[in-house]
Amino acid sequence: MLETCTSCGRKFAPQYAYQVAMVPQPGGAPERRFFCHLECRRAALGEAAFSTRRARKLAILNQKGGTGKTTTAVNLAAGLAERGFETLLIDTDAQGNVGASLGVKGDRSLYHVLVEGQDAADVAVPVRGSLDVITADATLAVAEVWLARLDQDRDRILAKRMGSAHRRYQFILLDCGPSLSLLNQNALTYADEVLIPVSCDYLALVGVKQVLKTLKDIERHLGHSVPIAGVLPTFYDARIRLAKEAVATLRGHFKDRLLDPIRRSTRLAEAPSHRQTIFEYDNSSTGAEDYRRLVERIVGSDRPAASSHRMPSAQASEYPRAV
Ligand SMILES: Nc1ncnc2c1ncn2[C@@H]1O[C@H](COP(=O)(O)OP(=O)(O)O)[C@@H](O)[C@H]1O
Ligand SMILES: [Mg+2]
Repeated sequence: MLETCTSCGRKFAPQYAYQVAMVPQPGGAPERRFFCHLECRRAALGEAAFSTRRARKLAILNQKGGTGKTTTAVNLAAGLAERGFETLLIDTDAQGNVGASLGVKGDRSLYHVLVEGQDAADVAVPVRGSLDVITADATLAVAEVWLARLDQDRDRILAKRMGSAHRRYQFILLDCGPSLSLLNQNALTYADEVLIPVSCDYLALVGVKQVLKTLKDIERHLGHSVPIAGVLPTFYDARIRLAKEAVATLRGHFKDRLLDPIRRSTRLAEAPSHRQTIFEYDNSSTGAEDYRRLVERIVGSDRPAASSHRMPSAQASEYPRAV
């Protein structure tokens, strides 16, 4: 549908999040405004339109595959967006499972942000109400090689490239691949917290050691510790004694940073093949219940102490949205 740019009067079809803004009206309900370019948006709303917020940035990471990282990233992001938080989900895994799970295929991906320096706001695709996504695909492998050849700051490029994106969102989630690659180091340098999903199946075998090793490896790579938003047991089955024991051991170690487990649920495994989040696919499933609890826990928690950032105020003014 064509809309009229509030600044220049041009007719255009809004495609990106920044092209729509709800602008507060004195004494009345906010009104929707459209902008064909970032410059038009800036001209009408000024820099303040981009500077009222500072996102919490969470990297969802575990160097092992199949621990529920993508499932957690997609459903936590969807749940936060459903709660009205402006949320950006960035896929930093060349497998591109985020796009596949949500049924989006952007014509551009994280490669274009990292290597070509394109504006994250242009590359982000609005996928649901308050949820935008930057997708990934096999070109990320090329980005990794490109990063490795850089002389300096090769683990800080993402933070540089994302520019002021954190001002446009309240949450930015990064779905990481199963490694401690340069891409993941970039994700960790950009993020201010890490959320670690741990499969209870796996835990039953190797225990808490593997989680500690992941954290140690992260710290070694970064040269400093990274605040933990939480350790999240996944694939939990209360009927299996070892799973219960594993969670108890984790609780002993991580105390209040251990989050309530996500139960094993066929509905969670099925949802991505329907290109749906768990809330869309089966809102009354145990999976939806567990991820809703996680959303509330993250929303209700402060940023970890090591971070000095404050949560944005609920009244923070308008925010650009695509239709
Ligand atoms: N709680 C769960 N119960 C059942 N299946 C799950 C659960 N969480 C994830 N899955 C499924 O397990 C597989 C691996 O999960 P995924 O989130 O892709 O892991 P990762 O991103 O860590 O590799 C996927 O097929 C996913 O649908
Ligand atoms: Mg994954």
